[in-house]
Amino acid sequence: MKPAEIAKGVYEVGAIDWNIRDFHGYSTHRGTSYNAYLVVDEKIALIDAVKKEFADQLLENISKIVDPKKIDYVISNHTEMDHSGGLPRVMHRVGEGKPLYVSNMGLKNHPRHFSQSWNYQGVKSGDTLSLGKRTLKFLETRMLHWPDSMFTYLEEEKILFSSDAFGQHYAGQEKFDDVVGDAIMPHAKKYFANILMLYSPLILKLVNQVTELGLQIDMICPDHGIIWRKDPGKIINAYVEWAKGEKVEKKAVIVYDTMWHSTEQMAEAIAAGVYDAGAIAKPMKLREWDRSDVMTEVMDAAAVLVGSPTLNNGLFPTVSDFLTYMKGLKPHKKIASAFGSYGWSGESVKLVRDELEAMKLDIIDPGVKIQYVPDRSGLEECEALGKRIGEAIVRQF
Ligand code: FEO
Repeated sequence: MKPAEIAKGVYEVGAIDWNIRDFHGYSTHRGTSYNAYLVVDEKIALIDAVKKEFADQLLENISKIVDPKKIDYVISNHTEMDHSGGLPRVMHRVGEGKPLYVSNMGLKNHPRHFSQSWNYQGVKSGDTLSLGKRTLKFLETRMLHWPDSMFTYLEEEKILFSSDAFGQHYAGQEKFDDVVGDAIMPHAKKYFANILMLYSPLILKLVNQVTELGLQIDMICPDHGIIWRKDPGKIINAYVEWAKGEKVEKKAVIVYDTMWHSTEQMAEAIAAGVYDAGAIAKPMKLREWDRSDVMTEVMDAAAVLVGSPTLNNGLFPTVSDFLTYMKGLKPHKKIASAFGSYGWSGESVKLVRDELEAMKLDIIDPGVKIQYVPDRSGLEECEALGKRIGEAIVRQF
């Protein structure tokens, strides 16, 4: 199959990873793709490479358009290895001395990943690279999501090569938003929740910067998933909405794990109380749900309740794992509380609460802890907690 020509002389030449299910701890139920783009003009530029294991596929795809040796410039929008791991094979074929464009931060980071002495060219925001009739312009996007991240913009076609931003872990032969339709949005949302949420303030700043620059965008080409050609504004607006964290659902995520079902019974009683108050509850047991799927639910929830049994005077390991993960992603503007069962020492609820406090979540209720197995009154206490949380959620709407 010939690579897709997404605009005149612009090709998507990357690779589809149909079978990956764990992307550095992020569940990829639909696989992913490592997109790369070839711009053919008087000069030829390759934008991004792919993961090491897919380098030959990338070169094969390029070969269907041009001999890789004819590539004049290689651009690496950021150094992460899913888009640069293929560079040793690519540069070997393209020519080791060909210019390799990275951001100025990339000049520091790139050589820490590769031992080759490539012909690095550092660029900053506003720098341009003429391809003949067309021009590439660079825009640094530091910490979105790596220190050396940048976008590359094809001025004449108004195409933004956005690196990881606006991507989705989605493997499919369909390459465009208008082909996949709204079914792509849950994948885009999960990507934002798990990769970008912590950078929300920077995202809002970047969108303002792009607006002020008056940069017109007809197409967004990310490094994962589909290309936004029908309505690039849709994903930009979604990013603004997600970054502001204001549009939440009338929903409480009840995330927990359990040893002998006591904490589980508590979670379900809390869920019943939330529902009684007029909100929706989503109980998620951590040994059944991947942390990245839980975080996707947390992102647009008004409340998060975390439950853990006490194990060896501490938290249950999956709950510790999740709290560490959630803390790093910096969720904000959420009601929170804790719950859990215990046998004799009972530290878990306080430990959960300490973590939620460290995340600066709004702990409106100290929560519930119950020894051994909850009896009827214990379950009523949990339902009452759920009801208080549910009422607080409903008051926000
Ligand atoms: Fe898809 Fe930051 O790499």
